[in-house]
Amino acid sequence: MTILLLGSGGREHALAFKLLQSPLCTQLFVAPGNAGTATIATNILLNPNDFDAVKAFVIQEKVEMVVVGPEDPLVLGIYDFFKKDTELNHIPVIGPSKLGAQLEGSKEFAKEFLIKHKIPTAAYDSFTAETVEKGCRFLETLQPPYVLKADGLAAGKGVLILQDLEEAKTELRNMLVHAKFGNASAKVVIEEFLDGIELSCFVLTDGKNYKILPTAKDYKRIGEGDTGLNTGGMGAVSPVPFADATLLEKIETRIVKPTIEGLQKDHIEYKGFVFIGLINVKGEPMVIEYNVRMGDPETEVVMPRIQSDLVALFQAVAHQKLDEVHLEVDPRSATTIMVVSGGYPEEYEKGKVITGLENIEDSLVFHAGTKLENGKIVSNGGRVLAVTSFGDTFQEAIKKSYQNIDQLHFDKMYFRKDIGFDLT
Ligand code: AMP
Ligand code: GLY
Repeated sequence: MTILLLGSGGREHALAFKLLQSPLCTQLFVAPGNAGTATIATNILLNPNDFDAVKAFVIQEKVEMVVVGPEDPLVLGIYDFFKKDTELNHIPVIGPSKLGAQLEGSKEFAKEFLIKHKIPTAAYDSFTAETVEKGCRFLETLQPPYVLKADGLAAGKGVLILQDLEEAKTELRNMLVHAKFGNASAKVVIEEFLDGIELSCFVLTDGKNYKILPTAKDYKRIGEGDTGLNTGGMGAVSPVPFADATLLEKIETRIVKPTIEGLQKDHIEYKGFVFIGLINVKGEPMVIEYNVRMGDPETEVVMPRIQSDLVALFQAVAHQKLDEVHLEVDPRSATTIMVVSGGYPEEYEKGKVITGLENIEDSLVFHAGTKLENGKIVSNGGRVLAVTSFGDTFQEAIKKSYQNIDQLHFDKMYFRKDIGFDLT
């Protein structure tokens, strides 16, 4: 089967790695991909958001399945684009419909879905420029810290958590009246603060049946001890050590099941990944967000742990027969450490030559932001490489990743040295 994978990050390199383990995958294209995907698949210079260009390529190369890595093409409606086109509608797209993608594309849509289907989440209200003063009064009724969320996609930067009431009001005005996050903050969700430890649950669904994939925990802040600015993620651990059978049971019955049933009840077509961001509040899991794709860097620990054939799983998703396949998971721990460009998530330089990749032993290196330049692999993004290792314990896996990172070098490279610090 010829497969087209859309995206260019570490998530896509890990998905490509897993897809290629399947005997069902005879050819894999990645658009646009990176230097890592180029070593295992065929990169195609194609913008995943340009659906006409995607269509032309799919027809030209007789692509038989499209796997969507990032959220943008999903929120823009790539699933519906394929479904409505008579030349494309026989080709499965792994990802939700445009409506389903609103679970990530609009915080308000997600909150309404959660409340409607009685899924545990923080209390909230939403406001626009017209109701900004009402929003300020709503803030006065809450206890700090104050959680403000831009409704739309804001590249992971749209959530502000503030201690001070006056600052929260100022930021609310900045978002609503002064378009702090552009159109994404034309509407703002104000939410009750949930105090607990975060984890993520990944689900693959065909819209009717589901498989719960390995849990993972990522480390979003740039600095050690979870300090400093938010990033896309600086490392991840799977499974999550504190996600015991009791917590997992609660997550499935209170959150996963009602989510999939909710999609059905609301007639939302969904054949893809659901990434549920959770906070464990004193043993009670609460949803903080939905994403309609896999996480990055969580994919770099979740995919290596999946032992089942991913293409067979995707085929079962496409044919709504996910109940007929079995999911095998490696019981060992996997961890990944992100190696990033100095300065990220603010200003950073690209084009730095990366050396030492040939010295990696017993770890997988997924490329996040790299490209080939004059035969050399150079940095091409904030997040550059994800170094994934296995171990009988997460501590052992982390140690292996750090040993291998010592072999790597590029100018101003940075990584957090404390991934897993809060786990025991
Ligand atoms: P989100 O984009 O919704 O995942 O939010 C980004 C980050 O903000 C999350 O990973 C949490 O660390 C934090 N966060 C979001 N909502 C809440 C909440 N209601 N209470 C506490 N922290 C939150
Ligand atoms: N690592 C978090 C995300 O992919 O959204």
